[in-house]
Amino acid sequence: MCGIVGYVGNEAALPVLIEGMRQLEYRGYDSAGVAIAASGGIARVRRAGQLGNLEEALDGAELSGTIGIGHTRWATHGAPDDTNAHPHVDSSGKVAIVHNGIVENFDVLKEELEAEGHAFESETDTEVVAKLVGSIMESTGVSLLEATLATVDRLEGAFGLVLVHADEPETIVAVRQDSPIIVGANGHAGLVASGIPALLPYTRDVIPLENRQVAEIRPGSVRVLDFEGREVDAETVHVEWDLDAAEKSGYEDFMLKEIFEQPEAVRNTMRGRVDKQGHITLDEVTWSRADIEGITKVVVVACGTSYHSGMAAKHAIEHYTRIPVELDLASEFRYRDPVLDEHSLVIGIAQSGETADTLAAVRFAKDMGAMVVAITNVAGSSIARDADAVLFTHAGPEIGVAATKTFLAQLVALNLFALYLARERGVMEADKLSETIDAMRALPDQIEEVLTLQGEVHRAAKRYADARDFIFIGRGVGMAVALEGALKLKEISYIHAEGYAAGELKHGAIALIEGGVPVVAILTGTALYDKMLGNVQEVKARGAETILIAPRNDERARSLANEMFEMPTTKPLLTPILDTIPLQMLAYFVAKERGLSPDKPRNLAKSVTVE
Ligand code: AGP
Repeated sequence: MCGIVGYVGNEAALPVLIEGMRQLEYRGYDSAGVAIAASGGIARVRRAGQLGNLEEALDGAELSGTIGIGHTRWATHGAPDDTNAHPHVDSSGKVAIVHNGIVENFDVLKEELEAEGHAFESETDTEVVAKLVGSIMESTGVSLLEATLATVDRLEGAFGLVLVHADEPETIVAVRQDSPIIVGANGHAGLVASGIPALLPYTRDVIPLENRQVAEIRPGSVRVLDFEGREVDAETVHVEWDLDAAEKSGYEDFMLKEIFEQPEAVRNTMRGRVDKQGHITLDEVTWSRADIEGITKVVVVACGTSYHSGMAAKHAIEHYTRIPVELDLASEFRYRDPVLDEHSLVIGIAQSGETADTLAAVRFAKDMGAMVVAITNVAGSSIARDADAVLFTHAGPEIGVAATKTFLAQLVALNLFALYLARERGVMEADKLSETIDAMRALPDQIEEVLTLQGEVHRAAKRYADARDFIFIGRGVGMAVALEGALKLKEISYIHAEGYAAGELKHGAIALIEGGVPVVAILTGTALYDKMLGNVQEVKARGAETILIAPRNDERARSLANEMFEMPTTKPLLTPILDTIPLQMLAYFVAKERGLSPDKPRNLAKSVTVE
C-alpha cells in the first residue's frame, strides 16, 4: 500500500521523485504529493487523484532543491482528498514526512499533542507522527535522526516512514516497521523507496530494511541503525531484475505476487481490530447496541468472488449471531422485490467499491430504509460513500483481474464483523470469542505454510492443464471455496469449471463425470466429512481424477486422492481462508501451462462499472 520515494544528491530532486512515483503508482493512486527542502523551508504540492493531477499542479511551480520526498497514497485514515494527501508537516513546517501503513495509537498521541497546542489539518495518522517528531526536535534540540528514534518507540502498528527536515538539507531518515522500505546509494546520491523499481535507475545494490530499523541516507551513503540507535551491519542485495519484474517484486505476474501477499493482507485487515485479550474494535461501525439488537435479518449482496466471500459469511453470521441471513447476487437482488425495513442489515461487498450491480443494490437497500454496511478495499470508492458504515479490507492494491488477496481479506473482515455483531447482541460467550480471535490471529502464519505448497500445486497443474472440464465440490463453507475455485480456474485458464454443493451432484451434474475428469473436493471445515468422502468415492468410481483439499495426515482421504493438499488446522468457519489458496495457485499455474496471461484474462475488467 502506498508508494514512497526519497532522494538526496546533487541533482534536482523533483524529476527523480516523479519518476519513482510513476514506478510505484500501482501501490496507490488516491492522491500524490511531494515535498522539497530548500532555503531553510519545505515546499509542498499535493493533489487528490492520480499522479497526473499532481504533475499538472507542478507545471510551472518553483520547486527546486536537491532533497525531497514523494508519496502516492492508498487511503487508510481520512478521505482521499488534497488535505489528507502526503507529505505531512509538523507545526513548524520544517519536518516533512511520508508514510505507508497504519499507526494504531495515533488517536492517543494526537490528543496528547493537541493538549500541547498542536493543531491538525488532516485526518491522518501520519500528521500525528510529523508533529510528534517536530515537537521532540523543538523541545530537546536533537537532530531529525534522534527525534525519529525517540518517536518510533511510541508508535504502535505498521509504518514505513521517510522524513526530511528543512535545516538538514543532506539527510533523509527512513524507518521500517512491517511496511517495506528499501534504501540505496550511488556515488553522489542517496535514495529510499517502498519498492525496488524506484531505485533501479540509480542503483542495483539495495538494502531492504528489516523491521525495527532506521536508515540515515545522505548523498553517496547509507547508515542503518536499530530502534535502540545501535549501528547495524545491514546486508546489501544486488538486484538483477528488469523494471517490469521489479514492479512485480520479481514475480512473473501480479496475480502470483498478490497470492503471496496474502499473509500481509490478512494481518493488515486484522490490525488494530483485535487484540491479544480477544477484544474486537470496529471503529467504523457506529450503530448503537440497540440498533444492532434490533436487527431481524441480514442480507448479503455482491458479485463474483465477493459473492463467494458473502456465501462463507452467511454461515459465520448465522452461526455466531443466530440472525437469519439471505444471500443475493447483486444483479438479482433489487429485481426480486426483496422484503426490507429499518431492521434489516444489508452487507454490500465489493473489493473495487465500484461494481455497478452492487452499488445499485446498496442504494436500493438504503432507499428501502435498511442499515447498510460496505466491505471494500478502496477508500473513497462509491460504495464507501454510499453505505452507512464501511469496513475496509486493508489488502493493498490488487492489480491482477482475478481477485485473490482481497477475497481472503474480505473473509477476515466478514468474520470479524460477525463476531462483533454476536458480541454486541450478547449471544457469544467471552471464552468462545477469544478462542476464535486466537484462531484468526494464527492465520497469517498458517497462510505462509499453505503457500509452501506451491511446488505440489504446480505439479498438479501440469498434470491437468489440458482437461476440458473441472468440477469443484464442497459442503457448508467448503461450497463457497468450491465455487471460488471454479471461478478462478474458468476466468484465467478458460477451462469449463463447475462449482457445486457436493450433495447436489447426484441430482444432475454427476452425469458430467467420466474417465479423467478432475474433481476438486474440499474436505475440511465441514461436520459432514464422511458424506464428503462418500461423494469423493462416488466420482472416483466413475473414473474421476480426485484433487483433495484435506486435513493433515488424513489417511482415509489419501487413499482416495490422485492429488492431495494438506491444510493446517483452524476453526471450521475459517477454513476458506486457507483452503482457497491452493485453488488460486492451481488456476494460476494451469493458466501459465496453457500459455495464458493470468493478469489480464480476455473479456474481463478489474472493476465492472456497467450493469
Ligand atoms: C474475481 O476474480 C472476478 N474478477 C470478479 O468476479 C469480481 O470478483 C467481481 O467482478 C466483483 O468485483 P468487486 O468485488 O469489485 O465488486
